[in-house]
Amino acid sequence: MLNEFGYDVGQWDIARFRERPPQDTFTAFDLEWHLLPDVWPGNAVATKLFTSWLPYEEADSFLEVGCGAGVTAVVAAMRGCSRVCALDINPAAAETARLNAVRHGVGDRVTTLTSDLFAGLDEGTTFDLIYWNSPFVEAPAGHEYRSQIDYAAFDSGYRTHAAFFAGLGGHMTGATRVFLGFSETLGNPSHLHELAARAGFTASVYRREEFALPADYSGPGSGTDGGPTSLVYVLYEFRRTATTDPA
Ligand SMILES: C[S@@+](CC[C@H](N)C(=O)[O-])C[C@H]1O[C@@H](n2cnc3c(N)ncnc32)[C@H](O)[C@@H]1O
Repeated sequence: MLNEFGYDVGQWDIARFRERPPQDTFTAFDLEWHLLPDVWPGNAVATKLFTSWLPYEEADSFLEVGCGAGVTAVVAAMRGCSRVCALDINPAAAETARLNAVRHGVGDRVTTLTSDLFAGLDEGTTFDLIYWNSPFVEAPAGHEYRSQIDYAAFDSGYRTHAAFFAGLGGHMTGATRVFLGFSETLGNPSHLHELAARAGFTASVYRREEFALPADYSGPGSGTDGGPTSLVYVLYEFRRTATTDPA
């Protein structure tokens, strides 16, 4: 069943993004970053949490799916990953990530790619760490995607999440670790776990943190309306528990 509260907060957040004066830079991790129009800025709470939690030191190669402005990919390269790939379905995001890799001196280690999930990767390319801060708000089938920015927040029927789990195996070795940044309050965790299980993956919570709901959100299901008063962000680690897709 759709998480109506998450869908409403997602719509509120994207509307807020559209109303903001255009910005061509933002600050995160004490650095200034490029931002092209219609790209999700990498200074969101979730980006900062997940980026600071990931275990880069165990990885030589790192794939960031849905890189947005490329903050996590650039931090991975700065923290020692020697082969980083940052991809996004939004061409402006891939270009923003490229600009940021150059800006922060890791352009030689970060490859950027416009790609629908793994489609643009060479067959058989594997990574030590694969990560996606996903558009975890499940949208109904009829959701209108007005521009690329909608793909940063919404996934109708979790079709893209299903494709993520289905395509992962082609880019994993036996030792690859897979992480997904998610919100248990705004997303649909039971649907996510069902899709993962169908593709042979099981989740464990790597880290979780809870924040107060933004005070200016007053939509349906807000704290004042008897709904959640906090937002829970979680970094899941997925392990392969079966080798075949039973679906
Ligand atoms: C929540 S945003 C995260 C952006 C960035 N990684 C961050 O943490 O700030 C999700 C990203 O996934 C991208 N995305 C959505 N569907 C995708 C797909 N099918 N293939 C690749 N990227 C996709 C969106 O364009 C967006 O940049």
